[in-house]
Amino acid sequence: MASVPSLASTLQQQLADALTAALPDAGTADPLLRRSDRADFQANGILALAKKLKGNPRELASQVTAALPAGDLIKDIEVSGPGFLNITLTDRAIVETLAARAADGDRLGVPPKAAPGTTVIDYAQPNVAKEMHVGHLRSAVIGDAMVQILEFTGENVVRRHHIGDWGTQFGMLIQYLFEHPDELRHGGDQADGEAAMSSLNRVYKASRVLFDSDEEFKARSRDRVVALQAGDPETLAHWQRFVDESKIYFYSVFDKLDMEIDDPDIVGESGYNDMLEETCRILEETGVAVRSEGALCVFFDDVKGPDGNPVPLIVKKTNGGYGYAATDLSAIRDRVRNLKADTLLYVVDARQSLHFKMVFETARRAGWLNDDVKAHQLAFGTVLGKDGKPFKTREGTTVRLEDLLDEAVERATAVVREKAGKVGLSEEEIVENGRYVGVGAVKYADLSTSAVRDYKFDLDQMVSLNGDTSVYLQYAYARIRSILRKAGDAKPAAHPELDLAPAERALGLHLDQFGAVLEEVAEGYEPHKLAAYLYQLASHLTTFYDQCQVLSDENPAEVVENRLFLVELTARTLHQGMKLLGIRTPERL
Ligand code: ARG
Repeated sequence: MASVPSLASTLQQQLADALTAALPDAGTADPLLRRSDRADFQANGILALAKKLKGNPRELASQVTAALPAGDLIKDIEVSGPGFLNITLTDRAIVETLAARAADGDRLGVPPKAAPGTTVIDYAQPNVAKEMHVGHLRSAVIGDAMVQILEFTGENVVRRHHIGDWGTQFGMLIQYLFEHPDELRHGGDQADGEAAMSSLNRVYKASRVLFDSDEEFKARSRDRVVALQAGDPETLAHWQRFVDESKIYFYSVFDKLDMEIDDPDIVGESGYNDMLEETCRILEETGVAVRSEGALCVFFDDVKGPDGNPVPLIVKKTNGGYGYAATDLSAIRDRVRNLKADTLLYVVDARQSLHFKMVFETARRAGWLNDDVKAHQLAFGTVLGKDGKPFKTREGTTVRLEDLLDEAVERATAVVREKAGKVGLSEEEIVENGRYVGVGAVKYADLSTSAVRDYKFDLDQMVSLNGDTSVYLQYAYARIRSILRKAGDAKPAAHPELDLAPAERALGLHLDQFGAVLEEVAEGYEPHKLAAYLYQLASHLTTFYDQCQVLSDENPAEVVENRLFLVELTARTLHQGMKLLGIRTPERL
C-alpha cells in the first residue's frame, strides 16, 4: 500500500516550509491554501502574517516565493492583490501524482489511519413485530455508508443493530400466542419476508383488539410481562418466535436494500436486560440519579418542559420497570467496557436528539463517557412527501419500506430498459441493473443531502438521468467502461511529458482530492460530502468529454493512452466512492 500525498498537501508543506525559512519569527504559520478560479490554488495566509509581523504583505509574499524549493511541482507563482499567492502546478506533477494513485489498487493512494480507534456504530434498528418504514431506511442507508467509509479509513468498526425487541408491548403479543399458538406462522429457512410480516401483523392486530376490549386478557398480558422479565423459559420461547419471525422479515428488506447485516451484530434491547439493575444501582449510588415521585431520575439544568419544570431522564419507572433510557445506558457500558469503543456513533432520527443528549450527559456524569470515549448522534431528518409533509401513502398511512423500494426498482428498470437496446443488454441484465439503479437512486437521494435536513421523496427526480442523481453517476461510470472496451489495443498509460488541456487538468486536480474528501467525510460523519465530490467528478468528466476526444484517430497514441489513463482512474474513483455509499456501478448501462 502506497500512501500518495495529495498535490494540495505537498504544496501546503512546501509553502509552510518556505514561510518558516523566509520569516523565522513567524513560527509555524498556515499558508491557508485553497482551490481557486484564477489559478489552481491560492494561498491567503501571508496577509494575516504580515499584519502580525507589521510587514508589507506583498514583500513578504515575494520572500516566501523566493524561498520555495526548485522542482517539478510549481509551474507558476505570482503575487496578486494585497498579498495573495496564485499558484499553478505543472502538468507533469498532476499526472505523476495520479499515476501513483492509479498504481495503488482499490485504495487509490489513500493511506489507512496511522492510529485507528474503535467505533461502535448503532444503525439499522427496526422493531420486532412491526413493519419497517421510511425512517428505518435512513438509519440503515446512512449507517451502512458510515460503516464502509470508516472501515476504509482503517478504523476498527463494530456494528450494533439495536432492534426494539423488549418491553411491555410484548406481554400482549406473547400472551396472545400462548392462547392461540398456531396463529403465528412457523417460519422456516425458505420463508419469505412478506409472509413473515403479514403473519406478525395478523397476530399484532388480533392481540391488540383483545387487549383493548377484554380486561381479563389485559391483566393476563401484564402478568406475562413480569414472566418475561423474570426470564420464564416458556415465555421466552414464545418471545423468541416473534424475534425469529421478525428477523426473516428484516433480512428480506435488508436484502432488497442490497445491504449486508450479520446476525451476531443484531443485539437488541433485550441483550442488555441483565445489566439494567446494575446500571440503575450504580447511577443511584453515585448520586447521578435520584428518586423522584417513586421513579429513579436524572435531572438537567437545561432540560425543561413547556411549563418550566425540569424534565428528567427516567431510568427506572415508579412501577419498577426499566425503559429505553436504562437500556441505552447499559448499552453504553457494554460498548465501552466489553467492546473497547472509544467512539460511539448513533445513526438515529433527529426526533430522538433530546433522549441522546440526556443519555450521553448521564453517561458522562457516571464516568462511562469522558475525554477518551466520546458519543455522537448522527441525527437525520424526516423524509417528506412531494407536498412537504411527512411521507405518507395516499390513504395517509406510513409507507412500507418494501413497497417504496419495489416502486423505485420498477421505475428504474423502465429507465434502463429504454436505453437497453442501444447497449445490447439482455433481459437478465436489464433486471439486475434496474435493481441496482433503483436501490442506488433511493440510497443516493438519502445520502446526498446533509443528514440532519429533511428531504422530499420524489422518485421522478431520483431516477432522472440528469442532475445530482445516482443514475447520472452510474451512467458516467458505464460510459467510461464502454470507452475502455472500445479502446481495443490502446491501453491506459500515464504520460507526464504531455501538456494537459484545461478540462484534463480540472479532472485531474479533482481526482487528486479523493483522499482529503474521505478524511473530512469520516471525521465529520458527513457522507453527503462524498456524494457531492462524486457528482462533481462526474460533472468534470462531462466537460472533459465535451472538450477532449479520447478515441480519435487524430490523437497521437500517447494522448489516447493518457486520456484513457485519466478516465480509467476516474472510473475507479467513481466505483470506489459509490461502493463506500453502498451503491453499485454496473459495467454496462
Ligand atoms: N428501534 C428504535 C426506533 O425504531 C431505534 C433505536 C435507536 N438506537 C438506540 N440505541 N436507541 O426508533
